[in-house]
Amino acid sequence: MDLDQLNEIACAMVAPGKGILAADESTGTIGKRFASINLDSTPDSRRDWREMLFRTEPAMSDRISGVILYDETIRQSAQDGTPLTKLITDAGSIPGIKVDTGAKPLAGAEGETITEGLDGLRDRLADYYELGARFAKWRAVINIGAKGDEAVPSQYCINTNMHALARYAALCQEANIVPIVEPEVIMDGDHSIERCYEVTEFSLKTLYRELFDQGVVLEGTILKPNMVISGTQAADRAGPEEVADMTVQCLANCVPAAVPGIAFLSGGQSDEEATHHLSLMNGSYDLPWPLTFSYGRALQAAPLQVWGGKAENVAAGQAAFNHRAKMNGLAALGEYEPEMEKEFA
Ligand code: 13P
Repeated sequence: MDLDQLNEIACAMVAPGKGILAADESTGTIGKRFASINLDSTPDSRRDWREMLFRTEPAMSDRISGVILYDETIRQSAQDGTPLTKLITDAGSIPGIKVDTGAKPLAGAEGETITEGLDGLRDRLADYYELGARFAKWRAVINIGAKGDEAVPSQYCINTNMHALARYAALCQEANIVPIVEPEVIMDGDHSIERCYEVTEFSLKTLYRELFDQGVVLEGTILKPNMVISGTQAADRAGPEEVADMTVQCLANCVPAAVPGIAFLSGGQSDEEATHHLSLMNGSYDLPWPLTFSYGRALQAAPLQVWGGKAENVAAGQAAFNHRAKMNGLAALGEYEPEMEKEFA
């Protein structure tokens, strides 16, 4: 393990004003996204979509520090034959790879999942390093039960998922790949923001205990957490200041200062909401780590709709991606105001 290299990559991933593009949707998930624009999901249509994003300037050079890829994408080439990973590195950005194989039902635990993908991971990581990946991602899924149901998440679910995350992270570091550890507390449900805080705290405390037990060096990791936020169907949803406040408080209580940076997932927030929350956190608190974005939907929803799968819309799709990347880059500096959406559109 080359700790200096790991730390250097981790710091570059959270460089000031930059964040990560999560373009690692599985074939099933990207199929659902394409269905919303009536586009068939084929290897070529998936390539065209991602090629359009990776060729977008100045977004890629100025705002996107790294791109999380899916297994198919890291092996694909652009229409002119250039490997997609080369488009990313030519822009000064870093290719990364999703290595988990998805969340599967957790045995004996109704409504809960365990993320799989540890079998053969050592060999897959060596292969991905050769293909250019310098960081990886593994997503654990923690559901919150309906209001009044304290049984979900169970301690069993949290323990097994955080144990797997730490096993993944240790293997990544052995392969000189920076692990993004992503314990996602899911936003779906009618739970309060306080319940989200409690579950996020429980998950993060368990995660850092497991990372310690398994010898993972925090200086060579990135955390990708959910924000502390009300459930999507909650009756009284907390406002942006409360989300920022409780998220910062939760992270400050759980995440060691040695972690080089924190890059949030958007998790079903609207794109403007996700940007606003990030900016509030960066603008109002004195924090031991940089906070930035590692958004999937919140970066891609707008360009996807504008592009619509049509070659004649590539320039407009890229303009939409440039806009969201710029807004989020400003949010990573705490300099975004919602009024900018119109001013820069
Ligand atoms: P969202 O920002 O759409 O939640 O996706 C980020 C991600 O990588 C989830 O694993």
